[in-house]
Amino acid sequence: MFSLGANSLTSPRIQHFYDAPTGTLSYVVVDPVGGSAAIIDCVLGFSMQSGRTDTAPSDVIIDYFREHKLSLQWILETHAHADHLSAAQYVKAELGGSVGIGSGIREVQAHFAPVFNLGKSFPVDGRQFDRLFDAGAVFHIGELECEVIATPGHTNDSVSYRVGSHVFVGDSLFMPDFGTARCDFPGGDAGSLYESIRRLLELAGDTQLYVCHDYLPGGRELRCSCTVDEHRQHNLHMNEGVSKRNLPRCVPSGTQRSICQR
Ligand SMILES: [Fe+2]
Repeated sequence: MFSLGANSLTSPRIQHFYDAPTGTLSYVVVDPVGGSAAIIDCVLGFSMQSGRTDTAPSDVIIDYFREHKLSLQWILETHAHADHLSAAQYVKAELGGSVGIGSGIREVQAHFAPVFNLGKSFPVDGRQFDRLFDAGAVFHIGELECEVIATPGHTNDSVSYRVGSHVFVGDSLFMPDFGTARCDFPGGDAGSLYESIRRLLELAGDTQLYVCHDYLPGGRELRCSCTVDEHRQHNLHMNEGVSKRNLPRCVPSGTQRSICQR
């Protein structure tokens, strides 16, 4: 773990946590003035062998909150995750806070309810969450302003959270050497993902984009963020040389993690 310190009273303090089995990065975003904080994309461990869940990945974060005497205000999801379980409800029971997600979660629920045979009693209106964010919504973490940028494509409900010059992009982008996320889930769409990433890459070049996963390609060291400029120049799938007409071709579901190939 390493910490990115606050540059001014209006800048967040950011701490990342890495869950190696799923390659997931969770973030704690702190208002350095009052100690209010948000957790983004916390993980509940799951063993395929035993079928049991494991709270260890989020217990580390909960310990961090208690050690630093932080107040949890928001538990944020960048999207409905297919590769790991969310620890949002567990963390809420331990530390409080409100669980927020993009309002597109209603479409994701409507898609998946019949797939998983959840029955008519399963509500598909997002009521399981405390707050559904529409595109452009603004809320606060302490005194820090947080803007919701709709970034659908990987999933209908994908959003990015912008706090000043720091943006948490979920699975819209991976690090430049791994490209972009898959978009073959029900409701996913490569064209929408293209437009979403273009919106992100139109931000100021020195904006830091924080990814939700890093799979350490080639055995390199963990990286959790880089600038918009680095993506523009080097992203494997979505650099400045890629237009919507030569969009990476998608391969069938289940063949690999990142389905967009040149
Ligand atoms: Fe995802």
